[in-house]
Amino acid sequence: MKTCSKQDGRRGFLKKSASIAAFYFTPASLVKTFAIDAVVPLPIAKEKLAITINGKLMNLEIDARTTLLNLLREDLAYTGTKKGCEMGQCGACTIHINGKRTKSCMQLALSNQNNKITTIEGLSDGVNLHPMQAAFLKNDAFQCGYCTSGQIMSAVACVREGNAKTRKSIQTYMDTNICRCGAYQNIVDAIEEVATSGAKI
Ligand code: FES
Ligand code: FES
Repeated sequence: MKTCSKQDGRRGFLKKSASIAAFYFTPASLVKTFAIDAVVPLPIAKEKLAITINGKLMNLEIDARTTLLNLLREDLAYTGTKKGCEMGQCGACTIHINGKRTKSCMQLALSNQNNKITTIEGLSDGVNLHPMQAAFLKNDAFQCGYCTSGQIMSAVACVREGNAKTRKSIQTYMDTNICRCGAYQNIVDAIEEVATSGAKI
């Protein structure tokens, strides 16, 4: 049976060191290099999209890979819709598609052919705040405000869906939206106030 002596260990160590040194100190001229062909970007496929945003019909030509969130924020400057995680986790990008709340980071813009989109900019009538916006202000339902657009869009949907009948239900159906400032109690206060006010939203 082969036993391992101290000498074997030292020899192994020296062999290993020699091969590492040979690798690092081989002259560059002896190292075979492989030419990489220049990467030629493929032409970007543009597609036509007819979409209504906040009541305005738009006929656009867009990169087929654009998310709805990027179309709104980057291409059309509806920056009220916020970009948080871009993974469907935080709810900052919540908008309404045909009246239903949706996380716009999880949608390709092109899958919204002929759809009606409402963003936070389209919620008020242009003069008066929407009752939910007013309730958020009154109840101090935000701190930094980054999540607020998404919270308000979800809150409106939550009331319209009939899921704001109790505080518990509001908490459950608003768990789609994260507030890193922790303004949750005040957010629930605002939603409860609107839900019980009988205001038509
Ligand atoms: S940015 Fe869409 S869910 Fe976070
Ligand atoms: S108010 Fe700051 S993240 Fe909600």
